[in-house]
Amino acid sequence: MRMYDLIAKKRDGMELDAQEIAYIIRGYVKGDIPDYQMSAFLMAVYFRGMTEQETLIMTNEVAKSGDMVDLSAIKGIKVDKHSTGGVGDKTTLIVAPIVASCGVKVAKMSGRGLGHTGGTVDKLESIPGYRTNLSQEEFFRVVNETGLSVIGQSGNLTPADKKMYALRDVTATVDNIPLIAVSIMSKKLAAGSDCILLDVKTGSGAFMKTLDDSIALAQEMVKIGENAGRKTVALITDMDTPLGNYIGNSLEVIEAVDTLNGKGPEDLTTVCLHLAANMMVLAGIGTLDACLKKAQNAIEDKSALQRLIAMVEAQGGDASVIKDTEKFAKARYMYEVKALKDGYVTKMDTEKCGIASVLLGAGREKKDSPIDFSAGIVLHKKTGDAVKTGDVLATLYASDEKLFVAAEEEYRNAVTIEKTQVLRNPLIYARITKEGVEKNDI
Ligand code: URA
Repeated sequence: MRMYDLIAKKRDGMELDAQEIAYIIRGYVKGDIPDYQMSAFLMAVYFRGMTEQETLIMTNEVAKSGDMVDLSAIKGIKVDKHSTGGVGDKTTLIVAPIVASCGVKVAKMSGRGLGHTGGTVDKLESIPGYRTNLSQEEFFRVVNETGLSVIGQSGNLTPADKKMYALRDVTATVDNIPLIAVSIMSKKLAAGSDCILLDVKTGSGAFMKTLDDSIALAQEMVKIGENAGRKTVALITDMDTPLGNYIGNSLEVIEAVDTLNGKGPEDLTTVCLHLAANMMVLAGIGTLDACLKKAQNAIEDKSALQRLIAMVEAQGGDASVIKDTEKFAKARYMYEVKALKDGYVTKMDTEKCGIASVLLGAGREKKDSPIDFSAGIVLHKKTGDAVKTGDVLATLYASDEKLFVAAEEEYRNAVTIEKTQVLRNPLIYARITKEGVEKNDI
């Protein structure tokens, strides 16, 4: 077999078989296939797509390229959750403690921020002392003792995806449905949970900008999960506006704690209750309505907050910052972005909001750049809100005043103020199961 012929086959729109896909993935991980040939192959996939069968085979190959985690040492049903990435998306910090307090185990490996999107591992590391690099034994022990653990990806989870993702990032081949499905689902299959809930974001801050593409991605991923014997459901949720009001690492932990105290913003709280309820349905706890009630109770009686505190303590973190979020280290400087005219916020380019936060130091400019945990943005006006000249649209936080210049410009470009009020988008557009697409308007 020659890589040259396989590139040409995909370039000409033909279907690759299992042996050919195995040759490509294994050869690339071993280093036998160079980056320039893999780049050409990925670009051919970008334009020609992959059949359902090819996507399935490639997902399994990528999953098997490293460790396949065996979670059988953890008692009970394990449910994983994955978000396709967004701005202000701190849902894992809220949803995992809720479902753990309702008896569902969460053994979750999360990622770091990517481009304009934040990552749960970075957010958790803003808690002083919190360890995201537990050994497998420690990971299992924390889940068995507290019901949940969130850590970074182990060194040898899906090495093929790590290599391919880095290449896609620099060859303009990230935003492609089969390639995203392979990337996400290979990690989920390797991570070993029994059930998977996918939070597929849609809108200006998501990788998938249109609802149709988001539904197509969700359907592809649900098929892969079910085919691999994992119960899989996807919710399509809005990312045309940042989720909640806080963007940035410790800022998002603070908002997650507020939400677990019953004082979170309505959009974030609603999305989290539905994500949590769907995870519980997957675990066989009850109907969607019953699970929604359980999730609400877990916030009201603070049992979910207690789970978060237990996990933080078990992973070496200083839980005093969770018990009193005023104790989080504060950014040295703050700057208010004020409205220059009257009207209504009619649009927030959410990718630009994320970039503004990166420019303040909350995300990475380059792969290994350090992160400023206290940097970020607090939003005071969101899509649909009325504004008057001089109203504060957002407060920016940074450790270096010079960063405000570029961040303010980016943020102002992100926010459109017009004369006529618009309605906010739904928060949850659809629920995708193996049975099909249920349209929602929540
Ligand atoms: N998240 C992933 O893990 N992979 C992708 O390809 C896109 C988003």
